[in-house]
Amino acid sequence: MLHSLHMNAVFPGSFDPITNGHMDVLARAAKIFDHVTVTVMHNARKQGRHLFTLEERLDILRAATSHLPNVSVDSFGGLLVDYMQQQNKGIIVRGLRAVSDYEYELQIAHLNRQLGEVETVFIMAATRWSFVSSSMAREIASYQGDISSMVPFASAEALRRKFAPALNPAAPE
Ligand code: PNS
Repeated sequence: MLHSLHMNAVFPGSFDPITNGHMDVLARAAKIFDHVTVTVMHNARKQGRHLFTLEERLDILRAATSHLPNVSVDSFGGLLVDYMQQQNKGIIVRGLRAVSDYEYELQIAHLNRQLGEVETVFIMAATRWSFVSSSMAREIASYQGDISSMVPFASAEALRRKFAPALNPAAPE
């Protein structure tokens, strides 16, 4: 059943870290729905595949979304449909940047609908974010490239800290 009296949505993802594309989708979702929960989906077995720990990703998300009054941050380590049921939520928001995202998203949306009573709503990110992804931001930041126009401030700061050249005050100039 869709819980349409209060239209609450869940925006799930890895958010490693959140990008301006995610922020754009989230801001649009926050205008449509009464409340949006950004949920970091994590899997203990995949923990090593992420740059940021779950706590770091949550800290970044909290900082990046603090200006959005109807957005909250959460995490879950299991199937998305189980989370949705547990939280009594029926709508999943996912962002689309380009047609290339669609095939993967369509598969997940159909699988989720098969697994649980959930609807997936797609929100198109603004075209200026078409080429922005968490993986590209990580890649550029790892070479000390400027990612400040691609990710929110909290993500940019966290990326800079993560890839800061090791400080060794004893080292000669
Ligand atoms: O930001 P991402 O990595 O594209 O997000 C993918 C995510 C986390 C939404 C998806 O992998 C997910 O829902 N994982 C939780 C496990 C699950 O429910 N899997 C079944 C659907 S693929």
